[in-house]
Amino acid sequence: MKIIETIGEMQRESDSMRMAGDIISVVPTMGFLHEGHLELMRVAKRHSDKVVMTLFVNPTQFGPAEDFEAYPRDTEGDLEKARSLGVDIVFMPNAIEMYQEGCQTTVRVERITQPLCGLSRPGHFDGVTTVVNKLFNCTKPHLAIFGQKDYQQLAAISRMVMDLNMDIKIIGVPTVREPDGLAMSSRNSYLNPEERQSALCLKKSLDLANKMFQEGTKDARIIKETIESLIKAHPFTRIDYVSLCDPMTLEEIEILKDETLLALAVRVGKTRLIDNCLIR
Ligand code: PAJ
Repeated sequence: MKIIETIGEMQRESDSMRMAGDIISVVPTMGFLHEGHLELMRVAKRHSDKVVMTLFVNPTQFGPAEDFEAYPRDTEGDLEKARSLGVDIVFMPNAIEMYQEGCQTTVRVERITQPLCGLSRPGHFDGVTTVVNKLFNCTKPHLAIFGQKDYQQLAAISRMVMDLNMDIKIIGVPTVREPDGLAMSSRNSYLNPEERQSALCLKKSLDLANKMFQEGTKDARIIKETIESLIKAHPFTRIDYVSLCDPMTLEEIEILKDETLLALAVRVGKTRLIDNCLIR
């Protein structure tokens, strides 16, 4: 497994893989890898000849009061995991390499980045789409793999690829969960044992909403109120949003249709967790 830290070397490497006829996939990550990330690598391996994992904690997608400094890091462990999965290249630039002095270009996807996480994390998605665009330009992939756990991120990146005619196929991978249902996240490491218990309210909410829909409830307000009381019954929780929305536009809906996205963001103690599911 090659470890590459400079953009120039990464681009040359991708050029020679392309010249050799290899299909390249990229798996962008911020590291502190868990089973969710590893599943993306496995999907990447199945779809391509060469897998490039990027490892970069992107400062521009964190707000000033967010956890950029505290974000968990374990480069050695991450490299070991990537190696054991058969990743071909890890691209791990530092922030100075990625953001040259004087850079002044932002890639912004307009409407679908506004609701949900866009409301409580202003600028976050600009940071994500800009860095993902940059990572694409460094790694020159045919395919890029993202998790459905970050549904709005996946939607924004898919939109960007379409809008900017990028010749990259985006693959979304279903959310990988702990045995008790908690969606895997690097931020789960912030939770103490009591908070970890309370964090189960997210998956319980998804299950409850699904059950209500299957039993005939179509009124979004009723489902939302039921979920909000379920979450509030768990200690240390503070709801950021509970949204039932159109899976394409992410606009709130009042009556559930054939397919509706339920997206949640809940603070458990100081940790902000998200989860989602399609209700159909
Ligand atoms: P990060 O949070 O490290 O996640 C990297 C990728 O792993 C994302 O595509 C995310 O959706 C996916 N992922 C995380 N948890 C998952 C789970 N439980 N199941 C399946 N996939 C999961 O998302 C980012 O980094 C950054 O925003 C990034 C795209 C790298 C840009 O900086």
